[in-house]
Amino acid sequence: MRLPKHTAIIMDGNGRWAEKRGLPRTAGHKAGAETLKKIIAYAQKKGIEIITLYAFSSENWKRPPEEVQTLMNLFRTYLKNDVNELMKKGIRVSFIGEREKFDADLVEQMNRLERQTADFKGFHVVLALSYGARNDIINAARQLAAKAARGQLKPQEIDESFFSAHLSTADLPAPDFIIRTGGEERLSNFLLWEAAYAELYFTPVFWPDFNEEELDKALESYAKRERRFGGLKIKQKV
Ligand code: FPP
Repeated sequence: MRLPKHTAIIMDGNGRWAEKRGLPRTAGHKAGAETLKKIIAYAQKKGIEIITLYAFSSENWKRPPEEVQTLMNLFRTYLKNDVNELMKKGIRVSFIGEREKFDADLVEQMNRLERQTADFKGFHVVLALSYGARNDIINAARQLAAKAARGQLKPQEIDESFFSAHLSTADLPAPDFIIRTGGEERLSNFLLWEAAYAELYFTPVFWPDFNEEELDKALESYAKRERRFGGLKIKQKV
């Protein structure tokens, strides 16, 4: 079966999953963190090389303080315990997003994990934390403008690959496949530039209910699609 080399997931529906059960929204995030572990393990088993997960958007800071606090505590526990497990399994872990907005101990953990796993090959987990695609694109534009202002760059030297090299995803291939759980059918400021040719998959299943079987269904849907990147039909090896 043809597999996406890089799969990205918008993990949506934690709050609604909890509300449906008469639980606080934060219980949905806790359940969502368990799903995250299962899906990472399964993605590796399936042979996906890179998985990027949207765990916190740059807009999520506007949520009620108790909810933001719960998420921060979940990230803290996750980075200290679970991601260390990933490290022991030889999995590369990296982060995209506005890292400087997090508490110093979290930033420290993120930097440490990236450093310690930077040379691991085979499977790469990318966590998007306080990430927003427009913001990332603006940052890239600013870097290029600054270089041009210093006379180090001519406007005509800016092409797609040069621009991509200034995004936080510079060291990643573009995602082949983007999954969004929770029923909404939009990208919500996730990987806008990188998603140009990605196949999209939307499922009504809330993230805490997403499981191995649901990922298989999504991957089967991907395998059936024919990707042309704007060109004509070509014969593809399956
Ligand atoms: C969207 O559901 C989900 C989030 C804003 C947070 C995602 C977090 C996790 C999956 C768990 C923790 C992650 C790590 C890295 C430990 P929502 O709250 O928007 O759900 P709703 O649309 O039903 O309200």
